[in-house]
Amino acid sequence: MNGDIVSNVVATQAIHEKYGGVVPELASRAHQQNIIPAVEQALSLAKIRKNEVSAIAFTRGPGLLGSLLVGTSFAKGFALAAGIPLIEVNHMQAHILAHFIDEPRPIFPFICLTVSGGHTQIVLVKDYFEMEIIGETMDDAAGEAFDKTAKILGLPYPGGPLVDKYAQTGNPNAFRFPEPQIPGYDFSFSGLKTSILYFIRDHVKSDPDFVQKNLEDICASVQDRIISILLNKVRKAAKAYGIDQIAIAGGVSANSGLRQALELAAEKYNWKVFIPQFQYCTDNAGMIAMAGYYKYLAQDFVGQDVAPMARMPF
Ligand code: KG4
Ligand code: ZN
Repeated sequence: MNGDIVSNVVATQAIHEKYGGVVPELASRAHQQNIIPAVEQALSLAKIRKNEVSAIAFTRGPGLLGSLLVGTSFAKGFALAAGIPLIEVNHMQAHILAHFIDEPRPIFPFICLTVSGGHTQIVLVKDYFEMEIIGETMDDAAGEAFDKTAKILGLPYPGGPLVDKYAQTGNPNAFRFPEPQIPGYDFSFSGLKTSILYFIRDHVKSDPDFVQKNLEDICASVQDRIISILLNKVRKAAKAYGIDQIAIAGGVSANSGLRQALELAAEKYNWKVFIPQFQYCTDNAGMIAMAGYYKYLAQDFVGQDVAPMARMPF
């Protein structure tokens, strides 16, 4: 065991596209169907036998309870059967620790903008498991802002990657959406969602094909605003805390516009930025394994009485 990721298998759940969002019960059933084949595939790709595994890490939370229950129960069973330690991992910390999978690794303390479908946080990362949330969303998460925009535009779930795709050929200055005035390092995205909804409704009244004709420009303009909301707060936090190492993590860190904007900000503000490999942005086993590795080194194990938590503090 040396901290290298030897396989990273993702079982994509196609079922959510059909329903235009995640239905918790369907997600946990899909987890149940996928978990054994996914683990078997991961072991086989890594060329590791079950009896060679030294510990098993699982996501305790935050997330959907039904899905967390599947992973927690599986990990407990595996640990018990193999007689190996059990390691609980916090989903949001794992997104951040994905930065330790490859070089260059950030040096503590650094700031991480963690942006996913359920969370939007500015985190002051002092050590592997010593993290302080200095700003977070008061309503929708950044990923939700992308997904809800996509839904308004009639695009399938999850819409974030599609908004990203169309934005690439659109004009980000075509339309202007408001930037909310929220104090400190907190975020709000619900006002943006409402303004998009009204904007589309008003334009479609006079031109039923408005969305179709302007899809790229709408996506580029919305994405540009989401990115400016995120990066303005990061800039404020970096300045106040005197930190110039900035990382991004979570599903939305896969966004090509955000990745480019961070690179530009790095030049402008003299930051050293850390952008995860694409496969370690959206939820993945590699990041859980990485967090598990550091807990293993610290011998930080949990017992069979551990229960998943839908909401889980750091
Ligand atoms: O971290 P993640 O995989 O799951 C959660 O923990 O929520 O993040 C999923 C979110 C979804 O909202 C999805 O639309 C968004 O990440 N996302 C993106 C992109 N890829 C995934 N948003 C914008 N651009 C992308 N390329
Ligand atoms: Zn996530």
